[in-house]
Amino acid sequence: MSSLKLSNIGQLVTFDCEKNDMVILENTEIAIDGNVIVELGENLGDADQVINCNQKLVTPGFVDPHTHPVFLDGREDEFAMRLQGATYEDIANAGGGIVNSINGVRNSSESDLISRVKTRMDRFLKYGTTTVECKSGYGLNTDSELKSLKVIDEVNRFHEIDMVPTFMGGHAYPPEFKDNHDGYVDLICNEMIPAVSDQGIAKFNDVFCENGYFTVEQTKRILDAGKVHGLIPRIHADEFEDSGAAELAGETGSISADHLMAVSDEGIQKLAENRTIATLLPGTTFFLGKSGYAPYLKLKEAGVDVALATDFNPGSCYIQSMPFILSLSCIYLKMPILDAIMAATFTSAKSLQLENEVGSIEIGKKADILVWNIERTVQIPFLISDHSIQSIIKNGSIVS
Ligand code: NIG
Ligand code: FE
Repeated sequence: MSSLKLSNIGQLVTFDCEKNDMVILENTEIAIDGNVIVELGENLGDADQVINCNQKLVTPGFVDPHTHPVFLDGREDEFAMRLQGATYEDIANAGGGIVNSINGVRNSSESDLISRVKTRMDRFLKYGTTTVECKSGYGLNTDSELKSLKVIDEVNRFHEIDMVPTFMGGHAYPPEFKDNHDGYVDLICNEMIPAVSDQGIAKFNDVFCENGYFTVEQTKRILDAGKVHGLIPRIHADEFEDSGAAELAGETGSISADHLMAVSDEGIQKLAENRTIATLLPGTTFFLGKSGYAPYLKLKEAGVDVALATDFNPGSCYIQSMPFILSLSCIYLKMPILDAIMAATFTSAKSLQLENEVGSIEIGKKADILVWNIERTVQIPFLISDHSIQSIIKNGSIVS
């Protein structure tokens, strides 16, 4: 195994599990053996390779816990329609939106999708994301959902980035079930979930619980069926309207409730009581041109753990950059920068149940590390259209 040392670091900013808080370390070096961080401290011994960080900032790699990367093409035409005044909801009601992406996935070969997803993973990694959750959800029949998960698994096998697969058959109703919503929920519970479980790739089961999509009762059925098959629940909750999805997240033992632009005070209380992580997606609010950002300060005050993600998808948010999400979080969610970094590294790892492996620079964790070409954390959101990363270290190796 080869060893690597990061020396001459300016500020090393990371979550510290012992202190249970973010810390800023000075005069600290990082020693890596193989893919693991083995030592932190001053004047560490020699290594096969040394990176001189030139007194620049060092942080953990970003963990993006909510993306929808398995699709063929982006839906630019819907973007153009929004510029003319249509809303995301209008477009979906007129037959656009998520269902518009179904044909692309259903009619594409596995290898075509693999090549699209690979290019997207290259870009995530280039922007400093070292672990990314990836949902299926544009196939919406058994074969195409299994194909989407297979594509995630295949790319994950050869790509440097780590991908965490989520089954999302409960994303929308495909046209053939337009007038038979319960029939589609039956299909998900009785056929798709057992098949997904047999396939053995997906870790999580996510449902879009929202007016016009899946009701609280239907969401509960899907998440309960998934639990029987070992799939961990997570929810797209209260994005456009408060439908009681945050409450349901607690009731179903969901690890995370995501979006939450319209969450109620009672919903926030339930998230706190049930220790459900709130994953906020300000990129979507921004990309849809909406003004009602999720209530980060209320969530924080209630003691809810907050994670950040891009929600990268072909319709409502074509953003892959976590540094840009940090800018939006600071500007619109009013997050202090250290809170935002924690939300995009440690807490996002926690929302994927990976906090013992990634999300912080600590001994025993995977060496997923960013060396920036800036000195101070506030420069990450401030340099809003830059990607000021000098080196990306993934699994102990420098990414070219
Ligand atoms: O998280 N809200 C539901 N799903 C996606 C939108 C997907 C799409 O529009 O294609 C989201 O924003
Ligand atoms: Fe989403």
